[in-house]
Amino acid sequence: MAATSPRKILVTSALPYANGPLHLGHMLEQVQTDIWVRFQASRGHDCLYVCADDAHGTAIMLAAEKLGISPEQHIDNMREAHQQDSAGFLIDFANFHSTHSDENRYWSERIYQSLKDNDHIARREIVQAFDPEKQLFLADRFIKGTCPRCKTEDQYGDNCEACGATYSPAELIDPVSAISGATPVDRESTHFFFKLPEYEAMLKEWLDSDTLQPQVANKLREWTDAGLQEWDISRDAPYFGFEIPGEPGKFFYVWLDAPIGYIASFQNYCERTGHEFDAFWLPGGDTELYHFIGKDIINFHGLFWPAMLHSAGLRTPTAIFVHGFLTVNGTKMSKSRGTFINADTYLEHLDAEYLRYYFAAKLGNSVDDIDLNLEDFVQRVNSDVVGKIVNIASRCAGFLRKSFDNRLTDSCTEAELVNDFIAAGDGIAELYEGREFNKAIREIVALADRANQYIDDKKPWVLAKQEGAESQVHETCSVGVNLFRVLMTYLKPVLPGMAEKAEAFLNCSLDWIDLDGPLLGHQLNKFKPLLTRIEAKQVEAMVEASRQPDTPVPAEHPQVQDEEDDTIQFDDFAKVDLRIAEIVAADHVEGADKLLRLTLSLGDRQKQVFAGIKSAYRPEDLVGKLTVMVANLAPRKMRFGISEGMVLAAGPGGEELYLLEPHPGAKPGMQVK
Ligand code: MSP
Ligand code: ZN
Repeated sequence: MAATSPRKILVTSALPYANGPLHLGHMLEQVQTDIWVRFQASRGHDCLYVCADDAHGTAIMLAAEKLGISPEQHIDNMREAHQQDSAGFLIDFANFHSTHSDENRYWSERIYQSLKDNDHIARREIVQAFDPEKQLFLADRFIKGTCPRCKTEDQYGDNCEACGATYSPAELIDPVSAISGATPVDRESTHFFFKLPEYEAMLKEWLDSDTLQPQVANKLREWTDAGLQEWDISRDAPYFGFEIPGEPGKFFYVWLDAPIGYIASFQNYCERTGHEFDAFWLPGGDTELYHFIGKDIINFHGLFWPAMLHSAGLRTPTAIFVHGFLTVNGTKMSKSRGTFINADTYLEHLDAEYLRYYFAAKLGNSVDDIDLNLEDFVQRVNSDVVGKIVNIASRCAGFLRKSFDNRLTDSCTEAELVNDFIAAGDGIAELYEGREFNKAIREIVALADRANQYIDDKKPWVLAKQEGAESQVHETCSVGVNLFRVLMTYLKPVLPGMAEKAEAFLNCSLDWIDLDGPLLGHQLNKFKPLLTRIEAKQVEAMVEASRQPDTPVPAEHPQVQDEEDDTIQFDDFAKVDLRIAEIVAADHVEGADKLLRLTLSLGDRQKQVFAGIKSAYRPEDLVGKLTVMVANLAPRKMRFGISEGMVLAAGPGGEELYLLEPHPGAKPGMQVK
């Protein structure tokens, strides 16, 4: 049940750049945030989710210019598109604002003034590349040239895509401006810096305070250990942003005013609604503040932002929740493969709730990347949501309507079962609270299995044909509907649309705090289909619609368009747990023409793997042999059972398939390195 007094919580997710459409990576973040926010509300807390577009910077200015419109027009268009996409994914913003707003100008100036008053702003001359044709200072990403190390042409100014070297643009051979093609010249200019080193002690304490995930704190300690540098917060005209007061021709760098956009969006909300503001941003209040962000922007949120807030006399976040990146089918999203999927393209082909469910089923509280495997997506959503959850209601609804006027029984024969389901809620709530949505979903699906098992055991479809068994049918279906009600309450943060339809059917609202026992003598409404199965062809059509020749555009963020690269980092490789396995049994699988069922021993444990090697091996020839397996592959449910790994084989297939075998001496369980 909910805590006695409601918590006051303000939540944000990162402000998307207004220079391009939202893609499924953005949606991963918004869905994660939205589930958490809806969960809090369902528990009776006051929880508000604000966001905005991040509308400033050179990239946006250039993009608008290319389109022949003003930057203001461009960001208005983008904001409209972003809001539509988020609404399509059922993201429940209390407010969606823009960093190009009066509120944000006010707060940016005010915070800057505090930093200045505290003597935390330095002023220095720096030398930077300048495009003499475009009359524009060039950030590293806007300079191209030949890599000084491997001599590959047409590389960006900060790193080489061919050999991975990192360097400064001054080291490039034959550098040119990526905007005009002109040769850049060096030019001096005054910049303003935030004196981050003065915050070393404060930041070290913040990093040690357990407010951050351990991996995030460790990553940020690399910065503090290396010695913090002053942070360049100004850019020269022409720049689309806020001019620094009293400094004509100097603008706030986009990353200075972007997080301030959180405050601005909330203020705009408070002004529109009369909601209290101060308690959320001044220190010492009893409110909570959380930022959901991706792992590529932790330095801005985990170092610069708390230091700025501190200097300005504002509160620091209660915690920052960092998630990993979305990959599709195991690799970075790729335009040529059709897996760089924009939010609107997805929505043209598929229901948002499918993906909300899939993301929830995969999201934990770590910064590990999340893979959208399109095959697994179809299989999992169909099997869990349609096959298990919806199934409970649809199996019972027909009988209740036909024979019992859609009314539940006055007493419950299985109060214990229903109460068990309700009692499981505290554990599930704890998992939601800790952002372990994957574990919460696992618990909910296990309960759904129990509910289906109960109905299977009672067989109302058999009883319905028997004389005198009417009341049993009524009881069973009433219990089934009550179990469904509890499960849908737990799933409502993930599947708000489906929950709304369930509420219409159940004729009651589904809130966690209302779960205190079965509904008795309760009148239901007509049952309408809640969610249909995904067809594989819908997914294929979406991929087809997303496929396009790749045209990378320089933007404020290198990581985001880098998604084309096929290489993996050592860390990725190190995640694969390859081990020597002994084949202790190999069997034919009835009904499968390609598969053998292998029982593999890793010394201390055994695993079952279905391997498509039947065309090349007879089972009896395999028993006793050693091979190599991927031991930490997530178990996969196949038509014939669970497969708990993969064995490695080479060759084109058919009869030409060769299992890998180690040299003599290797023992089962040994790790391959
Ligand atoms: N404008 C900045 C954020 C400013 S916050 C004060 C920005 N914008 S972004 O559009 O590039 O990214 C917005 C959010 O989406 C970030 O948290 C980023 O990590 C996240 N993602 C962008 N691509 C992503 C994936 N492929 N996967 C998961 N999240 C991703 O950064
Ligand atoms: Zn190179």
